[in-house]
Amino acid sequence: MVHCDKAPEGHDLYANLPAVDRKPMTAPALLQAKADGRKIVSLTAYDASFARLLDEAGVDLVLVGDSLGNVIQGLATTIPVSVDDIVYHCRAVSRGLHSALLVADMPFLSAATPERALTNAGRMLAEGGAAMVKLEGAGEMVEITSLLVRHDIPVCAHLGLTPQSVHRLGGYRVQGRDQQARAQLLADARALAEAGASALVLECVPSDLAAEVTANIPIPTIGIGAGVDCDGQILVVHDVLGISPGRRPRFVKDFSEGQYAIRQALAAYVAAVRDGSFPDADHSYAPG
Ligand code: KIV
Repeated sequence: MVHCDKAPEGHDLYANLPAVDRKPMTAPALLQAKADGRKIVSLTAYDASFARLLDEAGVDLVLVGDSLGNVIQGLATTIPVSVDDIVYHCRAVSRGLHSALLVADMPFLSAATPERALTNAGRMLAEGGAAMVKLEGAGEMVEITSLLVRHDIPVCAHLGLTPQSVHRLGGYRVQGRDQQARAQLLADARALAEAGASALVLECVPSDLAAEVTANIPIPTIGIGAGVDCDGQILVVHDVLGISPGRRPRFVKDFSEGQYAIRQALAAYVAAVRDGSFPDADHSYAPG
């Protein structure tokens, strides 16, 4: 919060805070983490305040996900999220980060052609301050991954349940259940690693499939609903704090029961304003 009696210097409020004492995470450092067997801790963030908290907590990778369509914009799918939306939130998040690697999600159809992919991914780095972009799917995205990497744009791939494909998949369900789907997912993971991806998000796949993929590709896997054998884990920060509305998928764990803490804080504020106990003398300026 910007206090009215203390103006920030310059434009970047967080630049004046003490630095987080950790080496910055980079694309090559992700590979090293896999080699060292060190778990990669990842979360989403959409604003500078949360980004700072995540960085201080030791999160390695922060994703500005198109899940912002759900938790920030209140949409039922991620499909309407735009490149401008992601760039805007990346700029905010980048100001709160010191050590964590910032990854920008490429929204629906933003990488549908090589030209669009280069322009839009370029914006994520140049305007958003991201150090990597995330692309859902394989197929055409294998060549797009290779193109971006050749232009010095690191890529995190994303397989399994890819929410931008919800209409083709027929809903948000576990992927890779039968032999053919398992073999395809493993082949896609290998192709994306060969194309130069730096990491692979595996969403909603059986744990044994995620373990098999993890053991058979050289790049780190980051699971969400993919079991404990991935090289890292990611969740939506609103889910970890228990503040996202609606039914939670099985893979979500509420680490704070935040809804109750936040609801309690809001109820206390409402009650204090109504009964006149806030603001008290400690929170008011003495007559001048
Ligand atoms: O959009 C998002 O937040 C994601 C992660 C949950 C992997 O894609």
